[in-house]
Amino acid sequence: MMESPFKSDIFMNRVALVTGGSSGIGFEIARQLGLHGARVAVSGRRQDVLDTAVAALGADGITAVGLQGDVRSAASCEAWIDSLKQRWGPGLDVLVNCAAGNFLATAEELSPNGFKTVMEIDALGTFNMSRAAFPALRASRCPHGAAIVNISATLQYGATWWQAHASAAKAAVDSITRSLALEWGEFGVRVNGVAPGPIEGTAGMAKLAPGAKEMVQSTIPLRNQMGRKFDIAMAVVFLASPAAAFVSGDTLVVDGASWMWRPQL
Ligand code: HXC
Repeated sequence: MMESPFKSDIFMNRVALVTGGSSGIGFEIARQLGLHGARVAVSGRRQDVLDTAVAALGADGITAVGLQGDVRSAASCEAWIDSLKQRWGPGLDVLVNCAAGNFLATAEELSPNGFKTVMEIDALGTFNMSRAAFPALRASRCPHGAAIVNISATLQYGATWWQAHASAAKAAVDSITRSLALEWGEFGVRVNGVAPGPIEGTAGMAKLAPGAKEMVQSTIPLRNQMGRKFDIAMAVVFLASPAAAFVSGDTLVVDGASWMWRPQL
């Protein structure tokens, strides 16, 4: 078990919602917010996966609830906020937009609906959830303001093979991060992003680079090692915490310097 460098009560009396929080990176983010004192809600499409996640969070001593639905539906997002309001009161302190969809496809073979699906999960989903949560985020009583953290990627810096859909979607997510930071700053809502690089044990790595662990690791300058879900969760904890009280509109790359890698001359 990795040990957090942050105090364990920094999110005491805080409420956090993590979309896509029932598995993968989203689950570890929810877990770490919970281990630092927050009550956490995780959203996802599959009730059985949510139930398993909530039970696992509970086993770690975290107060958690599962919210079933789809970020592509504004009605789902609004219903989740209503249900949190009834359960834990009007304020939301931390929103993490982590729900994402992805697969490898050449641009030629990618169907218009495939492109649209990933755009809708990542970009529209981030907008829908943030928009639905805004009144609750404004109602946060957190002295250093409420925080949104959008989980992005580095695919869209330059270009990535067979990722036309996900790259476009994550570029849109980064743009939404900046726009919301601009508009919601006056209400004390900070909006930032985290851009993970290759993270071991994730659906993203299994789908996007199956069997290519050695090759991927050889392009990661920092110790030639992939990141851990814990590394992404720590970046989110930092951005949601008072340590980042004056940070807004930024996306923090957490990738061991891999996106800028070039072969030695
Ligand atoms: C080509 C595909 C496809 C595939 C789906 N589609 N999977 N096309 N290759 N492997 C197409 C379908 O044919 C269809 O188009 C359209 O997408 C919608 O498919 P549905 O199955 O109806 O959609 P839905 O179930 O709503 O979503 C599918 C999904 C999603 C996007 C694959 O289920 C998903 O991604 N779930 C897993 C989440 C995940 O992997 N998260 C990790 C993200 S990693 P047609 O034309 O046939 O109707 C990430 C960061 C990357 O985001 C960074 C890594 C370094």
